[in-house]
Amino acid sequence: MTSRVSLPSRAGRFAAAGALALAGLAGTAATLASPAQAANSYVVNGSTPRPEACNNHGTITPGTWITNGPCGYVVGTALAGNRFEINQTSDKGFHYGRVQLSGGANLCVWIPPGAIDQGSRQSVADSCGDDVKTRNQNSRRIFGRDFDSAPHSGDGAIVVPVDPTACQGYYNYFDNSDFSGGSLRDPVGFALTDTRSGYRYTTKDGKASMIRTDHNGETYWIFVDRGCINGQLPGNLNNQDNPEAG
Ligand SMILES: *[C@@H]1O[C@H](CO)[C@@H](O)[C@H](O)[C@H]1NC(C)=O
Ligand SMILES: *[C@@H]1O[C@H](CO)[C@@H](O)[C@H](O)[C@H]1NC(C)=O
Repeated sequence: MTSRVSLPSRAGRFAAAGALALAGLAGTAATLASPAQAANSYVVNGSTPRPEACNNHGTITPGTWITNGPCGYVVGTALAGNRFEINQTSDKGFHYGRVQLSGGANLCVWIPPGAIDQGSRQSVADSCGDDVKTRNQNSRRIFGRDFDSAPHSGDGAIVVPVDPTACQGYYNYFDNSDFSGGSLRDPVGFALTDTRSGYRYTTKDGKASMIRTDHNGETYWIFVDRGCINGQLPGNLNNQDNPEAG
């Protein structure tokens, strides 16, 4: 563990936060409901629940988190009104499939239970297969680098504090499931402060960083330009991949 600061008491307190390590993932994803014959697309709601199964409590106001696995790392936000095409649903109600984001971006990701409007169903072509699912769940180096803590640790706690006051926040960055590039999209529309703000990882291309920050008493997981916080980051960020990576 090469994290600069990792206090167990804080880790416990903020374990509910969101960019969770992959611990527990295999158990969550192991049992899948029978796949449907065709994929269904649903509108993502606003003010959706945080995933209780990941020890998260509260509301995700703008929409819902998109993650690399159930209880995995946050890799963006599906905004209210975006569509999500379900490939599979886990026994705990996490959905895997393709999220259609603004600007034509679309990724194969997971979303927590209770985030879709069941009344908005449309039939779409099947997509997002098992290969991409397994690859993205098992390797954090697929999407990121320079993590705040070692694989299966950190759990959303503030391990590397940052002050993002000078930065603009964005809900999304990645263009597709290759995670090879993107652009800062979907501005959060509020001024960032240093209240309970911490760094999590940088995108694989080195350009944007995922941070957590509080706003109106809620923790947000958002992207900022890496250059905006680069000077605050320690030199010993973690580039180990998950033990599960192939
Ligand atoms: C999603 O939003 C729709 C439309 O506002 C609402 O009817 C539905 O109950 C919501 N679903 C959930 C799971 O909150
Ligand atoms: C889900 O992906 C698998 C491939 O892994 C595919 O065979 C199946 O048709 C897809 N299902 C849906 C509903 O998209």
